[in-house]
Amino acid sequence: MPLTGRWTLTRYLIEQRRRYPGASGELNALLLDVSLACKALARIVSRGALGSALGNALPAGGSINVQGEVQKPLDVLSNEIFVRMNEWSGHLGGMASEEMETPSQIPATYPRGKYLLVFDPLDGSSNIDVNVAVGSIFSILRAPADVLESGRDVVEADFLQPGAAQVAAGYAIYGPAAQFVLTVGDGVAVFTLDPDLGEFVLTQSNVQIPADTQEFAINSSNARFWEPPIKRYVDECLAGKPGPRGKDFNMRWIASMVAEAHRILMRGGVFLYPRDSKDPSRPGRLRLLYEANPVGFLMEQAGGRASTGRQPMLGVQPHELHQRIGLVFGSRNEVERIERYHREPVASETPAPLFAPRSLFRD
Ligand code: F6P
Ligand code: MN
Repeated sequence: MPLTGRWTLTRYLIEQRRRYPGASGELNALLLDVSLACKALARIVSRGALGSALGNALPAGGSINVQGEVQKPLDVLSNEIFVRMNEWSGHLGGMASEEMETPSQIPATYPRGKYLLVFDPLDGSSNIDVNVAVGSIFSILRAPADVLESGRDVVEADFLQPGAAQVAAGYAIYGPAAQFVLTVGDGVAVFTLDPDLGEFVLTQSNVQIPADTQEFAINSSNARFWEPPIKRYVDECLAGKPGPRGKDFNMRWIASMVAEAHRILMRGGVFLYPRDSKDPSRPGRLRLLYEANPVGFLMEQAGGRASTGRQPMLGVQPHELHQRIGLVFGSRNEVERIERYHREPVASETPAPLFAPRSLFRD
């Protein structure tokens, strides 16, 4: 289809805003700045080993970030791009990121605005050296009123808002094509980067996740650390057609949550990085504010569901900026099933496989 028949991201945002006559256009401008950061990263990532930003193209080293993870040169660069592309506009009161221990302040030379931007600038970055899809995830919150009124510095507590308070959220995926996936609370829209024009062009709107699925994603090397409801769920999937689910399942694990979230938005499925006992200091692997909440908002807006297993993700009250949490998201009926398994008593509900309902040994 020629471009004349399509909507750019700019047009989509303006058409959306027309439906809210009171809207000032600041959110739109902010989202366009975020999308520009994503375009810059799409370009860097697409240059691959020919560019200068990949870990293996630079001298060995790299630091450890606030999460205790190795920070690759591209993690640092992508964080810098997000901060620099967004700090000048006057739309933000402050920013927080996976790569920064404390919130980033808007420099005194620029006005401070009414939104907060929270992001994971390069999700799945362990995949960058092997040319597998990575992405950027973002969440937009309102800044407390006094940030705008007094121009004070932001503090960690300003960001500790439940996912239900998000104004907008999305991600960019840097895969075979770069795409920008967005919700402003009115469904989910997908934009594909036209590399010639440098524009994100609307290619799918009102994305709907099928309620049922036969595909799940989990890092099963952690199986011995899982809690019983998760073991039960995965065992039942693995039991396939003769098992209690009565159907065969397929499994995928990319180790890039953005890519898993995208697959699930496009064709359904369920993703689990549940709370486990691997490291008692961390109740889960993924981060609430800039991974679980934005993906949770997108899932719910696409008719799917996101949960800790015990409660809806978007209802969780955060208590720290880099808080980790167990995360399950995707096709609604599967996520609800996993939540039910968390509520049901364990022993009576998980018969040993040999005595499962369809087993030969059951009387
Ligand atoms: O940001 C965390 C992350 O890279 C996610 O993108 C991904 O789902 C997960 O970690 C992979 O974890 P693991 O290395 O345990 O498979
Ligand atoms: Mn991440």
